[in-house]
Amino acid sequence: MATSSNAPAPVRDEIDFSPTEHNDPASEKQAGAIHAGLEPIVRYRDIGISFGENEVLKGINLDIAPGEKVAVIGPSGSGKTTLARILMTLEQPTRGTIEVDGEHLWHKEMKGQLVPADEKHLHRVRKKIGMVFQHFNLFPHMTILRNVTEAPIRVLGVPKKEAVTQAVEMLEKVGLADKADCYPSQLSGGQKQRVAIARALVMQPQVMLFDEVTSALDPELVGEVLNVIKDIAAEGRMAMLLITHEMDFARDVADRVIFTDGGLIVEQGPPSQIFENPQSERLQAFLSRFRSNGFGGAYG
Ligand SMILES: Nc1ncnc2c1ncn2[C@@H]1O[C@H](COP(=O)(O)OP(=O)(O)O)[C@@H](O)[C@H]1O
Ligand SMILES: [Mg+2]
Repeated sequence: MATSSNAPAPVRDEIDFSPTEHNDPASEKQAGAIHAGLEPIVRYRDIGISFGENEVLKGINLDIAPGEKVAVIGPSGSGKTTLARILMTLEQPTRGTIEVDGEHLWHKEMKGQLVPADEKHLHRVRKKIGMVFQHFNLFPHMTILRNVTEAPIRVLGVPKKEAVTQAVEMLEKVGLADKADCYPSQLSGGQKQRVAIARALVMQPQVMLFDEVTSALDPELVGEVLNVIKDIAAEGRMAMLLITHEMDFARDVADRVIFTDGGLIVEQGPPSQIFENPQSERLQAFLSRFRSNGFGGAYG
């Protein structure tokens, strides 16, 4: 695949194989899938990552149920992007495990032992995950249509005619079917980001990650992108991890909101609880900074 944003991370060999907290009832409880009874589509267990001396994630336990919409809020530098990049296999965790759809992502099971996964395994399991980034990374020399058909044709082996039909359908969904023959330079930032969303959707992932997809946009373009995401969320099929600074959007779309700080999940719960009755001082302080700046703005 040609996108730099989807380039596989180099597989490092310093995984810590110390026992994870997989069966620890405390971590199961912290992970807290609210769609009770459903097997999680994603299961983070004791995920930690360090960059040199900098311990960025310090033991994340998180279950995401099929179709569940999880918003992630928290201060800059708290590890939100890293959490998503590990699931996208763009960063390798230093410890812990992730399961996607019941299967280990970073590991393979061999004779009852977990061993580091090879590139082929990573590639196969990663196909279930899609990601939209802050910067849209469209291919500038390709039309909008080709931007959307490229990965299905090359990665999934979809026949060209079928890929075009699917791409047009997705472009309709994000309101850009009339731009199919344009080049990215002819589009506004909001339109480019909607193409990036169509490009991720056409791969039919079971989980979509959105990492502050509106934070590089002019304020007047934020609403159109958030509304497209909201429509997709309402279809209900895909699980979503929505990293966002748009609190009104998080409250509106998410089934559950997670507040990260200092590499840990400090607090989580339904939007009503997180926004109206925050428990921890750190979340209270974080939200009051937002409120004093005006809560959301362009969305609605
Ligand atoms: N590839 C990397 N190499 C070194 N440091 C990194 C890397 N990725 C993230 N970091 C560091 O990890 C911390 C958390 O970053 P990030 O996950 O981007 O936080 P957030 O998205 O919450 O702002 C920051 O201190 C950042 O500098
Ligand atoms: Mg970030």
